[in-house]
This record gives sequence, structure tokens and C-alpha cells, in this order.
Amino acid sequence: MAKVNSGRRIALIGAMGSGKSSLARRYIKKYGGTGFDTDAEFTRRYGPISEFFASKGEAEFRKLEQELLVEAADSDASVIATGGGAVLGKIGMNALRSTCDIVYLTAPYEILENRIRASARPLKNDLANVLKAREHLYNKYADYIVDSSYDSLSELERVFEQPRRNRYDTVLCDSDDTILDFGMAMSKAIVNAARAVGVSKSEDEIISAYKTVLPVVWGQLERGEITRAELEIARFEMLKEMLEESFDPIEMNNAYVAEMCKTRDVRDGAIDFLRALRARGVKVYIVTNSFTCMAEKRLEAVAPYIDGAFVSEEIGYNKPDPRFFEKVSESVGGLDKQRTIVFGDSVTSDIAGGIAFGVDTCLYDPTGQKRSTADFTASCYTEFLNLL
Ligand code: S3P
Repeated sequence: MAKVNSGRRIALIGAMGSGKSSLARRYIKKYGGTGFDTDAEFTRRYGPISEFFASKGEAEFRKLEQELLVEAADSDASVIATGGGAVLGKIGMNALRSTCDIVYLTAPYEILENRIRASARPLKNDLANVLKAREHLYNKYADYIVDSSYDSLSELERVFEQPRRNRYDTVLCDSDDTILDFGMAMSKAIVNAARAVGVSKSEDEIISAYKTVLPVVWGQLERGEITRAELEIARFEMLKEMLEESFDPIEMNNAYVAEMCKTRDVRDGAIDFLRALRARGVKVYIVTNSFTCMAEKRLEAVAPYIDGAFVSEEIGYNKPDPRFFEKVSESVGGLDKQRTIVFGDSVTSDIAGGIAFGVDTCLYDPTGQKRSTADFTASCYTEFLNLL
């Protein structure tokens, strides 16, 4: 009981007739605080919902509903009652997730139907189909599940004594510059390899030239414009031109791969982060667009803290190709897409790949400079852990 209203904010989701608005009123009456009822606010601003559906259509209603959910999440309301279709949009739901515990109110079909029979809800005659189409979304977003058949307030008080369940049970985590310190490893490897093939330019010149080459060739690989074998050579042909030195790109590639295999650099805090994920009971699979031989060696540093690693060379597809993620899913016996999240620093491979595969995504961006359509952005590991 002590946990109720101890500063936590709650958002109520569930089908029409599950009692979201009435539970919100009872909760506030008992514990104080303020409420935000998105349907009531909609009606106040735009008129009765059934009339709005008839004149402007459902799509327009959904758009405004998502805006209201974001507004509610940003408000200081302690209890937010949503409309039954709130879960259809990610924008509003992600805003609620960032600020509230989400409570899913359930009740058997007969009870829901009976409660809404006399109301003017536009979708009330389609309840069975509506429920079927949304059940997986209610479950996805539920931090707590409360049976509202009898006394939902008492039931809420009971479930709040339990810890909130994790929002995700699997993290598909990028390797380079998310967990492993690619910048550090690459800088050492490229200089040593360059020296081995007789390049005499300064360390800074070599590193900065290679940093220019990398996004060009990896971008081509991600877009399927070149093969992995072509990339291996193309990168050092480009480097050779930029440095205006003469060396054999194949020899340089062999030297670079051998040097990279010696590196085990891990980003600060990454091991603690992986341990925290596993302590929460979350499965962690590394997903990387790397070369198998390199990844096997370099990932030794984190092997005790992960559940597995998937390397695109071995899989046969590169991120962001959804087939890469489908193969991962097959290998682990099927991922639950509603409860899986991709975490990585690359907008074009990690975030685009997660979106194409149909799972939630979180961009790891310590600089705060990147633009993306990821569901979430975390500037540090703790921010990502808080999302769970
Ligand atoms: C709807 C549910 C209603 C209301 C609108 C659409 C739905 O809210 O937002 O009629 O799509 O399920 P309640 O869940 O409060 O009935």
C-alpha cells in the first residue's frame, strides 16, 4: 500500500468499458493529485467523439488523440486516463512510458460489452474485433495488469506491491561504439597496419584519413552496393589515394585485420551495463556488421556478460536488412517482437534495421547530436536501463 501515490504517475490503458476514467476518479479521490482524461479533454475541445468520428473520420481523431497523450504525459497530472485506442500510436505511448507506470485494465468480454451497451461510443458494436486487434498492444505496454471486473482500486493497490515488470525481455545490442570501443581499437590497428606496409605519414593523418573512408564504405555495404569482400579492398584503395602512398591494399587489409584481432577495447561502463541488463533478467544478444574472425576475438572481452553474438558475415545479411534480424530470431527460437528492443549508435544500420524488422529501437548517442526516428534516444547506459 505504501507504494501507491508515492510520487509515481500512472497512465491507465485498456479497452472501452474497462473502467479507466472511473478508476482515475476513485484513485484521485482517495490519494489526491490531479487527473488528465484524454477522452474528456478531447470532447471539451472538439465536441462529442461519436460526432467527430462521423464528420472528420477516425484517422483525424487518432492524430489528435496522440497529441493529447503527449500533452498529458508532459502535464503534472498524477493519473492519466486514456481512450481505448491510445495504444495504436507509438508517439503518445512512448511519451507516457517516459513519465508514467502504465496500468492495463482488463475485464472479460461480457463485462466490457455490458458496460458500454448504453453509451454513444463509435466503435462499441465492433468490440470483439477491436479487442482482437489490440490485445498484443495492451500487453506490450502494460507495466502492471489490473483486473477491473470487481474492485479495480483494491486490485491496483495489490499489484502495486509487486515490482514493475520489464518493458523488454531481449536487447539486440550493437557492438562497435555501443559496447566495444571501436575508435580506440581502430586507431591502434590502422597505424600499426600502415607502418607494416611502409606508410610514413603521421599517426593523425592516417587515422583521420581512415575515419573519412569508413562511413563511405560501410554505407555502401549497408545499402547493398558492395559486397563484404569488395569492402575489404575498397577501403584501403581509398586510403591509399587519400594518403598518396604506395602499398598493396590486400596486404594492408591482412595487416589491419590481424591488428584488429589483437584489440579488446571496451567502452567505459559497458561491462557494468551488460551486467545490469542481465541482473534484470534481460537477454542480451550482440548484433554486429563485422567480420567473423574479428568479432570472435574482440567480443571475448564481453563474452561472459552476453547471451550470444550474431555477426553479419556469418549470417549472410547486414544490418539494416530485416533478414539479418529474422535469422537472429530463428537462431534464438523466436523473438517476441513486442518485447524486443534494438540498442545501437548507428542510425542507418541499428535504428533502420530495428524499424524494418518491426521492433522498438533506442539510439545510443552520447553526443546528443544525431537525428533519427528511433523510439528513444539514450545519451548514456543509465538512460537506457531506465527505459526497461
Ligand atoms: C475508442 C475508445 C473510446 C474513445 C473513442 C475510441 C477506441 O475511449 O477514445 O470512442 O478506439 O477503443 P474509451 O476506452 O474510454 O471508451
